[in-house]
Amino acid sequence: MIIITSPPEYFSGQLKVPGDKSITHRALMLGAISRGVTEIKGFLDAEDCRATINCLRLLGVKINVRGNRLLIEGRGMYLKKASKALDAGNSGTTARLMLGILAGQDFETTISGDQYLQRRPMKRIVEPLQSMGALFEGESDRLPITIKGGELAPLNYKTPRASAQIKSAILLAALYAEGVTTVEEPYQSRNHTELMLAQFGANISVNERLVTLEGRPALEGRPVRVPGDMSAAAFFMAAAVLVPDSEVLLKDVGINPARRGVIDVLFQMGADIEIQQERRWGSEPVADILIRGGSPLKGVEIGGAMIPRLIDEIPALAVVAAAAEGETVIRDADELRVKESDRISDLAGQLLKLGVNITETEDGMIIKGEAGLKGADVESCGDHRLAMALAVAGLAAEGETAVYGAEIINVSFPGFMPALRSLIIK
Ligand code: S3P
Repeated sequence: MIIITSPPEYFSGQLKVPGDKSITHRALMLGAISRGVTEIKGFLDAEDCRATINCLRLLGVKINVRGNRLLIEGRGMYLKKASKALDAGNSGTTARLMLGILAGQDFETTISGDQYLQRRPMKRIVEPLQSMGALFEGESDRLPITIKGGELAPLNYKTPRASAQIKSAILLAALYAEGVTTVEEPYQSRNHTELMLAQFGANISVNERLVTLEGRPALEGRPVRVPGDMSAAAFFMAAAVLVPDSEVLLKDVGINPARRGVIDVLFQMGADIEIQQERRWGSEPVADILIRGGSPLKGVEIGGAMIPRLIDEIPALAVVAAAAEGETVIRDADELRVKESDRISDLAGQLLKLGVNITETEDGMIIKGEAGLKGADVESCGDHRLAMALAVAGLAAEGETAVYGAEIINVSFPGFMPALRSLIIK
């Protein structure tokens, strides 16, 4: 549980947010199935990525942790049969992307996860992998899932939803299939897998929403420098935007266009944000982000192609919307219902307790901005991003807020509360 008392005077200072979770998972997995050593600098050391490390170790991959660096001794494409079931913990990315790699392995593996992950749909991954030739036991829409991989055929797949996890699982499996695989999405989702596959030597091309990958490449381990996670940065952006006189500089944040929707929307709401020192780390764009608080904010409408660009930042944006003038409407976001929690009904339920005027819709929510959040007892609902959003809301509220179940924050950001507190000026 965390307890937040009276609002700060303002937020001030500099912060380096932890490494990007999506990129860390991918660097671990690609490093594992490449030849040679992959060094990952600035990886995210949190429970979700530890789950990926543990799964890969069970599959015979040697991974050494040296401070903020990881050294992976790549095994090449083929891994060793695990001596027991893999545990993805709370991490959807671990479970779904690992299934892509396991589809190419000529042995049986069982993968499971915690109570929250066991509720999340897996058919979206299982079906395309089955079409490529992977075998599954039973229905396989929920973990635990047992997969038997082997010879795969390439696939031309139109995904019904914009999901980087579906796209990435298919692309990872496609590495094992002789021939060309294509994946087409309704809207572009995050493209870290495509960028990194190209860096590791795969023959991959991207034409807007269509990805084309040639199977059986000779992947070579590469150094990866992981940018700061936009999805972690978003909570500090929200906090600083909400409190007048705040000035916060977030260093080395990944600003991949597929991930920076939250900045575009905050701009549109009227927030004062500057992107400084744009540069590249490998193929990922990085920048420092300066946020000044107190600008008048107005409600916005968010939907369509914007949703995958900020899907994980909606809890933080909902908190900002609560303080904006007018209505914020979020639509086309029904995917939120199958995240770490039902991020439509659970977020609405908890924000209501803090006095936010929020209405749940089938595929999103409507927030009427009104001044004056009030402290309350709220619940993480087993969702790390809900817990962090509620902590930020609690800081903007009058009186005391207690966030129960806040330990779940460790899945993506173990030092979150100390980092937030380090910026508070009382
Ligand atoms: C992720 C993709 C997104 C995102 C998740 C991380 C990834 O999920 O919400 O937190 O690393 O590929 P979907 O692919 O289900 O949209």
